[in-house]
This record gives sequence, C-alpha cells and structure tokens, in this order.
Amino acid sequence: MAQHKVLMSFSIQFSHAITRRPADSITRGLRAVDTGNPDLALMQAHHAAYIAALRSTGATVIELPPLDAYPDSVFVEDTALCLPQGAVIMRPGAPSRLGEAAEMAPQLRTLYRDVVAITGAASFIEGGDILVTEGEILVGRSARTNAAGIAELARLVAPWGHEVREVITPPGVLHFKTDCSLLDPGTVLSTTRLSASGCFSGYKVIDVTEGEEAAANTIRFNDLVLMPAGFPRTRDRLDAAGFTVREIGNSECAKIDGGMSCLSLRFTPS
Ligand code: GLY
Repeated sequence: MAQHKVLMSFSIQFSHAITRRPADSITRGLRAVDTGNPDLALMQAHHAAYIAALRSTGATVIELPPLDAYPDSVFVEDTALCLPQGAVIMRPGAPSRLGEAAEMAPQLRTLYRDVVAITGAASFIEGGDILVTEGEILVGRSARTNAAGIAELARLVAPWGHEVREVITPPGVLHFKTDCSLLDPGTVLSTTRLSASGCFSGYKVIDVTEGEEAAANTIRFNDLVLMPAGFPRTRDRLDAAGFTVREIGNSECAKIDGGMSCLSLRFTPS
C-alpha cells in the first residue's frame, strides 16, 4: 500500500483553520435544487465533528459566531484565499453573499501581515472556485467567478510568486471544487466530468466512483482526508491509495450545495 506521509507542503499542511457556526437563517441558504431545508441541530452536530477532526491534527481552529444576516456564511471558504505570503479577500458572485467577505477581513488581518482584496466593481470570485496546488492556482470560471475576478486575483498574487491558471467549472456545477480536491501535492480527486476536460494534465487523478460525484469535495488537512459520509466505493479507493480518511456527516450542508472545503479556511499565517 502506498504511504502518504505529511510533507512540508503549503497545499496540504496547515497550522490554522477558520470556521463559522451555522446561523438559524441557514434554512434560507442558496441552493440549485430544493430538496428541503437543512436541519440546524443536525448540521451543528456535523459541524462539531468537522472541527474536532481538524483539531485532531494539531491545528488551531478558530470558531466564529453565526451571522444571521448571511444564511450561507457557514461556508467561509468563499470569502478569502489564504496563501503562505498573505490573504486575498474575495468578492462573491452571489449578491446575498457579497457582505460575508467584509466580515472575514478583520479576522484575517489579526493573523496575517499582508491582506489584500478583490475590489473591481466588475470582478467576482469565490474561494470555492480556487484549487491551490504547490505549483499553480487553478481557478474555475463559473456562475460565481468571472474572468475579471480571475485576472484581478492573478495580479494580486503574482508578487507572492503564484501563477494563476483559468479553467472551467463544469456547467451546472456550483464551484470548481464541488467536483475536485487536492489529496497530496501531486494527486487530485475528481469527478470524471471534470477530469475529462484535461485540466489536471500532469497530476495523478483519482476519479470518484460513478454515482458518487458528491464525494469529490474533500479536504486534505495535515494527515487526514475529510470526506462526506455515505460514499463507500470512493472511500475504498482512497483507503486503497493509502490516505487516512475521516468521514463527516454532510447531509444538511449538501441540501444547500455545501461540502467539506466550503466549511473552512485552511492556512499557515505569515
Ligand atoms: N449555498 C451555498 C452557495 O450557494 O453559495
């Protein structure tokens, strides 16, 4: 069995995470298809298990209070991009989520020396569309992230030595990382509809099993891969590849199109 030791790698190794507790208003969270409202108590239980898993790796996990004015604010990943050199405050493309970024900025300023922001009136970009690897930052153009937002991000992170590559989020898919995640510095977990686009050329790709597309949004966080519970065949693939997998309940977040990556910002502040 392959061994996947924790490497000194900024794309999978983190000292900190930021989360935000779900608010009562979560029942008004955005969704592509209405399959019923999330149950807040069950979502809180899943959220607690998620935070416990992050903490079990030795990381510091900051829990921000609920923000009732923003139903989707539990999905903190969309508000910022955290890199080793600094943080970039996003400009979410969903109008109801635009104000979430300003709520996150002061938190990041307490942790980072360098915090910059996407400010162009025509620029929109959400963290869920951004996959950071060791050698590049892939950004999926989507209904939430446009070319102007991607170009502005590229200009902001270039002085920090990062190169941005624009890719395409599959049509009808909320975010690029709805369909993929980084498992180790050279390995991506992906749906076949995304990997078939060829955007992961040069990476080793593990495809999720057909019918388990919702398993693609995992996070590699230090020695763990957190994945949504209920996808046994994809879990078997990750086990067989040597990853240490922790399953987390995601039934309630899934009702409003959220998953493992959406629930945290993961970083090592500079
Ligand atoms: N409900 C997650 C989002 O649409 O941003």
